Amino acid sequence: MQLGDVPPKPHIAFRGPGGRLRYEECLTRRGFDGEFSILYHENPPMTDAEIGEAEPGPFDRKVPLEAPHAPLKRRLVLGEKTPDGFTPILSNADVVISFVRLPKEARSEAAFSNGDGDDLWYLYAGKATFQTPFGDLPAKTGDYVVMPRGVVHRLVIEEPIEGIVFELRGGLHLPAQFRNPIGQLRMDAPYTHRDFIRPTFTGPREGPPEILVKKDDAFVRRRPAHSPFDVVGWDGTVWPFAFPILAYQPKTGLVHLPPTIHSTFGARGALVCSFVPRVTDTHPDAIPCPYPHASVDCDEVIYYVRGSFTSRKGVGPKAVSLPPAGVPHGPHPGAYEGSIGSRSTDEVAVMMDTFAPLKLTAQAIALEHPGYHDSWRESTGR
Ligand SMILES: [Fe+2]
Repeated sequence: MQLGDVPPKPHIAFRGPGGRLRYEECLTRRGFDGEFSILYHENPPMTDAEIGEAEPGPFDRKVPLEAPHAPLKRRLVLGEKTPDGFTPILSNADVVISFVRLPKEARSEAAFSNGDGDDLWYLYAGKATFQTPFGDLPAKTGDYVVMPRGVVHRLVIEEPIEGIVFELRGGLHLPAQFRNPIGQLRMDAPYTHRDFIRPTFTGPREGPPEILVKKDDAFVRRRPAHSPFDVVGWDGTVWPFAFPILAYQPKTGLVHLPPTIHSTFGARGALVCSFVPRVTDTHPDAIPCPYPHASVDCDEVIYYVRGSFTSRKGVGPKAVSLPPAGVPHGPHPGAYEGSIGSRSTDEVAVMMDTFAPLKLTAQAIALEHPGYHDSWRESTGR
């Protein structure tokens, strides 16, 4: 992408009216080996008027988790009662998963920048503009938003935001199997380049006077010397984007296909999948409901959005389930048999599988459904 004005080559003098030199900000991934973008600021982007002390954030890795120790407990964390702000619920070394709820009044003069990882939002509800140095990114109910690590953003909320945020500490990418050798999305990928919502360029403007920078799970208030949004142009391949979950093209098989057919975003140690309405399997004896499974090397998180969750009873929207690896899991009793003969599913859900085990936070334990674990009991007289 290229928006606004850029000079004919990188790293040459690029002057504005009156001969004033502009300043590059070269945002690079994987050291200097990966994808990059170059932004052109009217003023130096690296100077601070003030940089504060570290303040604790909502997620604290050092807080003792899971008391009492219950490694085989089936978990259901309810997003319905989550407080305003960000509420971390699950984490490992690769990802921190938080519920988010931001009221309309949440807009403040402060902006945010996450130095710990790429943020993947899923908006269960709401409408907002993410203002960034790359331009304005609009997002609404049903959209994913990908905000790369270190990108300053300020939310202008039109309708209150509710959803979930995955902080991906090793970065987020589109899975390699969906790309051809030069990186273009393949024709058989579940999405096309046209499905992705890009920022709209605004030109240099007043930015937030203060940025809350998250680093090592602490917050530091940084007052940049100049507006971080004083960008006259940029080009490159690193930029924030949105993707509407309903633009995801689902696949149907003769018989039930594994959850990897719903792959949407890849990350270090994690995979994000999108479940969207679709026609189910076409074999006359197909069982459309997921088969009981023991995916013994992964933890699995599902964020339920809407529809009848064929495999789960009593699970409502905005809930997150975590079946523990170590024992088999699958559909609730009755759901497997009951799905035979159904031809479609209307469910919408976001799933994340992780290789490293996830731990609940103290905040998640406070939001847990107390009877969920026991809903898997079956009395057989044994
Ligand atoms: Fe599963």
